[in-house]
Amino acid sequence: MRQPVLTSVAMSPSSPTTPRIDERFVVTPARFRRFAAAALITFVVITVVGAAVRLTGSGLGCADWPNCSNSFIEFGTPNQAMEQANRLLSGLGALIAAGLVTIGARRRRPYRRDLFGLSLALVAGVVANIPLGGITVLLDLHPAAVGSHFVLGMTMIAVATVLLWRSSHEFISDRGSARDLQGQSSATPSPAGSLDGPIVWLSRTMLVTLAALMLTGPLVTGSGPHAGDAAARRFGFAVPDVTRIHSLNMWLFLACAVTILVLVARMTGQRDPAPQTNSDLFRLGYALLGAIAIQGAIGYAQYELGIPAWLVILHVTGSAVVVITAVRFHLGLSDHVGGRVPAGGPPDDILGTPSTDTPDIDLDTEHSDRVRVP
Ligand code: HEM
Repeated sequence: MRQPVLTSVAMSPSSPTTPRIDERFVVTPARFRRFAAAALITFVVITVVGAAVRLTGSGLGCADWPNCSNSFIEFGTPNQAMEQANRLLSGLGALIAAGLVTIGARRRRPYRRDLFGLSLALVAGVVANIPLGGITVLLDLHPAAVGSHFVLGMTMIAVATVLLWRSSHEFISDRGSARDLQGQSSATPSPAGSLDGPIVWLSRTMLVTLAALMLTGPLVTGSGPHAGDAAARRFGFAVPDVTRIHSLNMWLFLACAVTILVLVARMTGQRDPAPQTNSDLFRLGYALLGAIAIQGAIGYAQYELGIPAWLVILHVTGSAVVVITAVRFHLGLSDHVGGRVPAGGPPDDILGTPSTDTPDIDLDTEHSDRVRVP
């Protein structure tokens, strides 16, 4: 007879009635992390493809929404084909990605409320962004609507980054202290255990300047040459002026990131964090600085070269990379997490058979932090 894999802690004599879940549909932490990574990649691809629709002038390839023109599906002209493919594949892809992580989070054992909440936020983002895309078409690509659609897409990339980060680390207690599988304080100190106060506030300020970049960027786009259709409305600002504001915004953002790294470096050796935590933080920080440097270079180059479409696509992709690296750096500084979830993990998954080495866990979702290793 097969050994029970998910033996509730509550199966101990103290509480024998804890409900069991269907063992066939258990998602391991390692498998869930893969779902989260797939969701993040999907949202980045959707954002870049959306920009490609604009840059090929296909934004009004379908003049109506949800129908293309007369019927739901029409592939008459190349622009129509581009816009249709974008609507169908992006909408469907986003729904599948957000739906899968949500089901995965529900089935993940140990269950984690934070992961489920973040997955639901992704579903909400998709549900909001699909009609927003429709409104954008119905408003003839008004730049404010195009910009809002883009900003929501970037917000979802940020949320998916948090989801992936959290799913890569062990349990986070409600009180913010890292725990290992025994529910003890983790042997791996969380960075925030040491790096709190001014550095975390500076990091939050850095995120505000990043959010501002996500607004000043679409302001330049809404005044620039790539409207998505020749007849689309424009903001009407002088491109050199808004680009100056946008690039100044980048220097502020960069100044925050550099200052944080300098402060972290000065703290090294004075008190915690542990060397491992330091090297992780520097790795995250250097990744962010590299992303800003490349993105800034692309930004200046595209401005000097008259904003060619092929560079704009790189700039949009770079924006996603900057958001991901900035959010990861901020989480490295501020998030209270335990050790890393091992990449491999047992072979049980949503479709497979659970292995027997899964730790016994409490299946009561409200108290799933009471995890026990046999
Ligand atoms: C970390 C640095 C930067 C980030 C994160 C960033 C982000 C963005 C974003 C989000 C957009 C809007 C994209 C869209 O609406 O599809 C944008 C547009 C733009 N950015 Fe940047 N940007 C950065 C640096 C720069 C710099 C230094 C310049 C040059 C001075 C620049 C020039 C432009 C231009 C010209 C556009 C308009 C592109 C178009 O017409 O489609 N950017 N940027």
